[in-house]
Amino acid sequence: MTNQPFNSQSLTLGEQMLPEMVGHESADAYHEAAPSHEHHERARPIPRISIQAFCEQPTTAQVVQTASEDRRLAKAHTGIHMGGIYAAIAHFQENPSPNLVILESMLDRNSMLAALDQLSEHCDEGTRVVVIGHSNDVLLYRELLRRGVSEYLVAPITPLYLMESISTLFSDPANEPIGHLIAFVGAKGGAGSSTVCHNTAWVMSRILQNNVVIADLDLPFGTAGLDFNQDPTQGIADALASPERLDEVLLDRLLAKCTDHLSLFAAPSVLDRNFEFDPQSFEWVLDVVRQNVPYVALDVPHLWTPWAKQVLLQADEIVITAMPDLANLRNAKNIVDLLKQNRKNDRQPHLVLNWMSMPKRPEISVKEFGEALDLVPRVAIDFDGETFGMAANNGQMIEELSPKSKAAENFRSLAYALTNKVEPKVEQKSMLAPFLKRFNLRKAGA
Ligand SMILES: Nc1ncnc2c1ncn2[C@@H]1O[C@H](COP(=O)(O)OP(=O)(O)OP(=O)(O)O)[C@@H](O)[C@H]1O
Ligand SMILES: [Mg+2]
Repeated sequence: MTNQPFNSQSLTLGEQMLPEMVGHESADAYHEAAPSHEHHERARPIPRISIQAFCEQPTTAQVVQTASEDRRLAKAHTGIHMGGIYAAIAHFQENPSPNLVILESMLDRNSMLAALDQLSEHCDEGTRVVVIGHSNDVLLYRELLRRGVSEYLVAPITPLYLMESISTLFSDPANEPIGHLIAFVGAKGGAGSSTVCHNTAWVMSRILQNNVVIADLDLPFGTAGLDFNQDPTQGIADALASPERLDEVLLDRLLAKCTDHLSLFAAPSVLDRNFEFDPQSFEWVLDVVRQNVPYVALDVPHLWTPWAKQVLLQADEIVITAMPDLANLRNAKNIVDLLKQNRKNDRQPHLVLNWMSMPKRPEISVKEFGEALDLVPRVAIDFDGETFGMAANNGQMIEELSPKSKAAENFRSLAYALTNKVEPKVEQKSMLAPFLKRFNLRKAGA
């Protein structure tokens, strides 16, 4: 029997071993200390690879199953079996080895290493191996690395932790970091979703001082060009027509620059062309965009087509804009339920209530709307015909036109939430402050 490495080039130091090495009490303590949203940030989409998992515990198999259903593993093909390393040996005697083998083992150190040596005889050199063990044992860890195991995770693990480990192994360093896709969708036509998308993206580019692209997916009727006073001759429809041609250079030509940090992937907004693109084309185009830009704001029209549904399900964050009436509430609830069902490991969507406090119009309150959806609305934007109307007519953003308005404040809050940044508190200075200060000084001197 030989100690042939599974893949000797890809040795990575298992992060999960760190607690013991730096003197933490236990691996469990480390699990508890690790904030889940960090994993959320680091788990990236995983390429089209084949994965075979061999578990011993039903709970671990469930974790792999949940991960395999996640949007980030949508391209990968995952098979899940029980029986641990011995089942893997039997399997690979008959079947070709995949890109990644995940092995759960409760064997003691020597038996586990012997079983892995046996398995290595039936696996190709290019196959990577992740072992999920049940003891935080440094000696075992070193021996596993020596044998070419890529990662050792200590059970219990979470789906996000597993996805993060896999994506670290398979992500292409040339394409890092991958941009965030933020999808903006209206619960009903005309709810103000495009307005929210454009204003928030504009503020995001200001806050981040980093590039943001608005992709206008409303091909026949998109308003992003109008809102930013741009009328480019080419844009997103040209990319979708031949997605395989799209690369960094072509993308640069197809984007219209709005400000230093904000570009527009504009819709043609014409009716003489047919726009029948399949979900695959959208996926290709958005993959290229996100490889070149850190934040992509997707202005998704109020449609329910296979591509629109897929864009929503694959986005990193989702913003639903709704008006406070019954039809919006019903639609928003359906969207939220669908997302909950299909995106179990993701943050909840961000709910924006728009057209609030419109004179003489009965409305569902923010509290009632939120309770019906089991979601706390992120912001509630008041109806403000004058400001919004003027901004739209001038091709300006609310922040440019009226930075002190309540709506500008709302867009800033949303932008901070979407970029996971803490909004700086504006100190509310009382008009009496100078007098009070003098009074206090006099009192102190008295
Ligand atoms: N809070 C508001 N107060 C006043 N007017 C608003 C408000 N929010 C949006 N509007 C206006 O409502 C109109 C429709 O907004 P917008 O185009 O953003 O909606 P949408 O949801 O994207 O619509 P569509 O379904 O056509 O894509 C615009 O003229 C916009 O200026
Ligand atoms: Mg719109």
